[in-house]
Amino acid sequence: MKTVFSGIQPSGTLTLGNYLGAMKNFVEMQNEANCYFCIVDQHAITVPQDRLTLRENIRSLAALYLAVGINPNQSTLFIQSEVPAHAQLGWLMQCVAYIGELERMTQFKDKSEGKEAVSASLLTYPPLMAADILLYKTDIVPVGEDQKQHLELTRDLAERFNKKFNDIFTIPEVKIPKVGARIMSLNDPHKKMSKSNPNPKSFISMLDEPNVIRKKVKSAVTDTDGKIKFDRENKPAISNLLTIYSLCSKLSIKEIEKRYEDKGYGDFKQELAEVIIEELEPIQKKYHELLNSDELDLILDQGAQKADFVAQKMIKKAENAMGLGRKQRR
Ligand code: TYM
Repeated sequence: MKTVFSGIQPSGTLTLGNYLGAMKNFVEMQNEANCYFCIVDQHAITVPQDRLTLRENIRSLAALYLAVGINPNQSTLFIQSEVPAHAQLGWLMQCVAYIGELERMTQFKDKSEGKEAVSASLLTYPPLMAADILLYKTDIVPVGEDQKQHLELTRDLAERFNKKFNDIFTIPEVKIPKVGARIMSLNDPHKKMSKSNPNPKSFISMLDEPNVIRKKVKSAVTDTDGKIKFDRENKPAISNLLTIYSLCSKLSIKEIEKRYEDKGYGDFKQELAEVIIEELEPIQKKYHELLNSDELDLILDQGAQKADFVAQKMIKKAENAMGLGRKQRR
C-alpha cells in the first residue's frame, strides 16, 4: 500500500481554492493509501501570528479536515508541533539544503519582497516541509500547483541525503489535480485565490454563509464578450468560474458550456453560487458539530501518537546516518 502525506497551514479560514485544489482530493485517496494529514502549525509561525487566533485556527482546521470526510479510522490526522521529529528532521534537512536554492523559491520571494524584517524561518520553510514528507516514507504528496517547486526541492534534498549519508528516504512523487490545481482570485483571474488576500471579495471561504457566497459570486469579474466558454488564455475569469462550477457539480466543463449556450453571465453566476453552496453546506454543518466536541481532541491525540511512533523511527535513522549522538550503529 502506498503512503500519502499532505499538510495545510492553520493560518486563517480555508478558501475554496484549498478545498478544490487539495482537501477534496485527500478524501478520495483514503481508500487506496495509508494517509497522513497534518496541520502544519510550525509552518504557520514563519509569519507573525496572534497566539489565541492560531490556537483557534488549528482547531478549526482539524474540524474542517474531518468535516470534508477525512476518516480518522483510516487516516492519521495530527498537529505538526505535537510530533517533535518534524522540527528535529527539519534541522537536519537545513544542514543538507543550500541557501541559494532556498532563495530561489518563489514563495520565499513573494513573501519576503519589500519587507525589512523577514524571519530566517521563511527561508528555511522548505527543509521543514521536506522533513514532514520524508519522515513517513511518503510515496505521494497531493497538493495544489503552488507547492510544486517545494516538492521538487524535497526530492532533491532527499536524493542528496541518500547519496551523502545513507539511503534511507523514499523519494516522493507530487500529485497535482488535472482540474482545480490553481483556483484563481474572483476579482483578478491572474492571481491565485488566497486566504491572505486582504480583500475578502477575492476569495470564497469554506465557511462563508450562503448569502455571502451569493454576493461574492455576483461581484466576481468576468469579461466583455458575454459567452460562457472555457478559454484560459483569453477568458481567464470565466474559465476559472467554469472550473469551480465543474468541480462542485461534477458536470464536465463541456456540459456546463452547453447548458449556458444561450444564457448570460447573470444566470450562470446565480446558479454557480447555488452549486457552491450545495457543496459547502453539508461540510459547514458537520464542521460546527465537530468544532467543540471532545471527539476532536481524542482524534488529534490518537493521530499524534500514531504519527510519533512512525516518525521517531525515521529521525533515529537520519541522526544515525549523519553521525549524531553516541550510540552509533553502522
Ligand atoms: P497551504 O496551507 O498554503 O495550502 C494548502 C493546500 O491548498 C492548496 N492551494 C490551492 N490549490 C488550488 N488553488 C488555490 N488557489 C490554492 N491555494 C492553496 C495548496 O497547494 C496546498 O496543497 N507548504 C504548504 C503546507 C505544507 C505541506 C507540507 C504540504 C507543509 N508541509 C508537506 C504538503 C506536504 C502550504 O503552505 O499549503
